[in-house]
Amino acid sequence: MSTSLRPLVHDCDPGTDDAVALLLALHSPELDLLAVSTTHGNVSLQSTTRNALELLDFAGHAHVPVYAGAEGPLVRSPVYAPKIHGRGGLGGVTLPQTGGPEVSGQPKPLHAALALLELADRYGDSLTLCATGPLSNLALAERLHPGFLKGLREVVVMGGSIEVGSPKLGNVTPWAEFNAYADPHALRVVLESGANVVLFGLNLTRQVRVTREREAALHALGTAAASLTASMLGGYLDMIEKRDQKIGALHDPCTVAYLIRPGLFRLEAARVHVNTDEGGTSGMTTRTEGAANVQLATWADEDGVYELLSERLGQK
Ligand code: RIB
Ligand code: CA
Repeated sequence: MSTSLRPLVHDCDPGTDDAVALLLALHSPELDLLAVSTTHGNVSLQSTTRNALELLDFAGHAHVPVYAGAEGPLVRSPVYAPKIHGRGGLGGVTLPQTGGPEVSGQPKPLHAALALLELADRYGDSLTLCATGPLSNLALAERLHPGFLKGLREVVVMGGSIEVGSPKLGNVTPWAEFNAYADPHALRVVLESGANVVLFGLNLTRQVRVTREREAALHALGTAAASLTASMLGGYLDMIEKRDQKIGALHDPCTVAYLIRPGLFRLEAARVHVNTDEGGTSGMTTRTEGAANVQLATWADEDGVYELLSERLGQK
């Protein structure tokens, strides 16, 4: 097993599942989390940025820099998901603050898009970018410096909803997944960038369900990180049960689980298109003919993902 740390940046919109993905990354020695960049998405940029800062402080990693990015998508107005993540964005959970010396409580002054370019300049093709929110920061950086994304080791994205033959499997509209819908133009920039994109759509993430049993099992681990994860996932389940949605899914952590233990997933080369037209199917992602532009995640070892999550977050 390679013992070299993998330099990583996490672009996110915490959000309960982003928060679990971030905690998993912070509790995994294989990954060297260099920075967190935040975007509009589940809640406002101000809230996602505050949540990222508080999560890093909670996990004892307040030294990891946070860069705030896009307040909205490239073209349209922001859409948020407070009915799924709660008004604060973390399923109703308020994080205790350590107030330690490293806690600045503020993001760095550099815009996230510029920070991504600086990190890419420093780490080149050893840098992995994990993106679990709308892709506005990635697209802005790519437009500022064409070829930025292609120069990275991998761009691991949670987004889209690929189902062969039945596209009506969105979660924000019948046709679109939230991250794709929130900034379809940004997703199109990433898909057309030539980057090594690994795409985790709803077709994959819905295979990794969030259940009350798993919430209880995480609580039972007894560590602060596992209990926080259980509380956030419990708040998430409360929200979706209110909206009588059928299942909760562990969307964003699948990307980090892949980086740690890729054997938990199966991928296949695919060409993916995103609809950027106005109208009902905006943000819909479909598989099309032609040269592959992503490695599409198609199967997950559901129990294996939870074993990894418990193993890492349950560490005393
Ligand atoms: O559709 C699920 C995705 O949208 C997840 O990343 C969730 O956090 C929201 O951003
Ligand atoms: Ca997210």
